[in-house]
Amino acid sequence: MEERKIQFRWKLIVFLTLGAAAFAVAPYVLFDPGQSRVELNASFPLHYPLLLVHIFASLLALVVGWLQFIPWLRGRRPELHRIVGRFYLGFVLIGSLTGLVVGMYTSSYIRQMAFLTLVVLWLFTGWKGYASARQRKFAAHGVWMTRNYAVTLVAATARLVTPLCIVIYLAGHQDLPFEGIEAILNHVLEVNIWVGLVVNIVIAEWLIIHRILKK
Ligand code: HEM
Repeated sequence: MEERKIQFRWKLIVFLTLGAAAFAVAPYVLFDPGQSRVELNASFPLHYPLLLVHIFASLLALVVGWLQFIPWLRGRRPELHRIVGRFYLGFVLIGSLTGLVVGMYTSSYIRQMAFLTLVVLWLFTGWKGYASARQRKFAAHGVWMTRNYAVTLVAATARLVTPLCIVIYLAGHQDLPFEGIEAILNHVLEVNIWVGLVVNIVIAEWLIIHRILKK
């Protein structure tokens, strides 16, 4: 019974994160710059193409990343785990380098620093995960890849916490005149990535400690 409850919880988390990612990517599937939610810089013609590369490479990392955490797939098809793992890290590399460039054109300094922090953490944890697998230190590999995937999932968590951030903002500004939803969203989008990052890091470290204590 307990096992089924845990499985249901995991399915719900996978469903929510993939749903949030699909929602975020939807305006970009037709490759129409007019639908971009990111304000495009006219003096940098590669802005939109690089944003698209970033979005689709990162989406692939997010989708295939879940496969790596299925225990029976790792146990029964270790060669598949290795192949998918290399693709995953390739997507992370492409997603982070393009994210770095695109992030330099973000007007908000707070968001820019959030993206830069994500890039550094994504590359660092990915490198540690890869290096520990090459050295056959598989326990350390699992720990670093859990941290790395927690960073990947910030893209989903940041969107999932947005409604809650809006509610908290409204609750804290009841006495002030209503600014309009766009202005409120602008405030919230300054912090949602940071909130998503903190939440994911805490959950990842909790899972890692839980796994160690179970042994
Ligand atoms: C974890 C490392 C990541 C970094 C550093 C990063 C960085 C960025 C940056 C800098 C932008 C442009 C934002 C702007 O100019 O306002 C962006 C946009 C975007 N990214 Fe990422 N990203 C990451 C992960 C992901 C993942 C895993 C996905 C998977 C779906 C993703 C999907 C998107 C989408 C859909 C946009 C367009 C946002 C919008 O329409 O508002 N990103 N990202």
